[in-house]
Amino acid sequence: MSPATPVLEVRDLHVTYQTDEEPIPAVRGVSLSLHAGEIVALVGESASGKSTVGHSILGLLPGSATSHGDVFFRGTTIASMDTEELRRVRGREVSVIFQDALSALTPTMRVGEQMAEPFRIHLGMGHGEAMQAARTALARVLPDVDRVVDSYPFQLSGGMAQRVMIAMATSLEPSVIIADEPTANLDPAVRQDTLMQLERLRDGGAAILLITHDFGVVARLADRVSVMYAGALVEEADVRTTFRAPKHPYTFGLLGSLPTLTGGRLTPMRGHPPDLATLPPECPFLPRCNKAVGRCRQEPAPGLAPVKDSVPGHRVACFNPMAVPLRD
Ligand SMILES: Nc1ncnc2c1ncn2[C@@H]1O[C@H](COP(=O)(O)OP(=O)(O)O)[C@@H](O)[C@H]1O
Ligand SMILES: [Mg+2]
Repeated sequence: MSPATPVLEVRDLHVTYQTDEEPIPAVRGVSLSLHAGEIVALVGESASGKSTVGHSILGLLPGSATSHGDVFFRGTTIASMDTEELRRVRGREVSVIFQDALSALTPTMRVGEQMAEPFRIHLGMGHGEAMQAARTALARVLPDVDRVVDSYPFQLSGGMAQRVMIAMATSLEPSVIIADEPTANLDPAVRQDTLMQLERLRDGGAAILLITHDFGVVARLADRVSVMYAGALVEEADVRTTFRAPKHPYTFGLLGSLPTLTGGRLTPMRGHPPDLATLPPECPFLPRCNKAVGRCRQEPAPGLAPVKDSVPGHRVACFNPMAVPLRD
């Protein structure tokens, strides 16, 4: 594997949920790559398909979903892996931090026991050694290890459960972390700790897919940003270019509505995201767009293409991109 090979690559992912009514094409041709030591933010309004992308990577989609596309781990498609390899990749190399910590923990098992399990299963440790490793991992994120190892998840506060879940998801030092809204609904101290944990893991070489609504978190942590709208990527660039000179009218609107770069939260833009079940072939942003030209109404939505006169890696899916920067 050459150094340029991404640790994780998603290529042309499509996911459709079958429902009693129409099928919902939640992800429509998304490609992403993550390199070691890099944080890529996946942003976009609610229901744009971000979590569906995250879940697809680990094969965590519900039975009602059909998907195609390829997920590569260190250059090998996950679809071609045998059971043993898959177990290693899913259990050890790639892990997920969910927004809802309590639902990620097993309710009937004491925290210490469930923390120790991955050390036994994936590293072959005996019970005592695994318990000790679990305590060490917990001690990195919380002060009161003795009490917490003997607790059941329901006995923990929300903030404590979040810390335990992060310790568990990262205890085997995974090479890829998918963090789905990891800071949503957290009090400031836990939020701060969570961000520091993610930075620590990134500094240790992990590649992180950071799914978030919080542009303060994006500005602080992300190297690159991919913007999703109605199941497709509409723009991608390094974080500085994304904040300074976004080209897609959607990205421009999202970032233009932020009060500050460091404390801002996404405020809703004019209009609503489209109904995915009845998407027209044209650009799904058309009804909300104030930059639309004739082509936008007559032709199918364009795919991502390099932005002229911008930095390498800046790509946008738009016939009439923004001409002026958002900020100097
Ligand atoms: N299990 C499911 N069954 C049917 N539709 C779903 C399911 N999960 C998500 N969806 C739909 O897929 C779309 C994308 O959802 P999601 O990936 O959760 O978006 P995001 O994380 O950006 O909020 C939404 O329209 C949502 O309603
Ligand atoms: Mg989500």
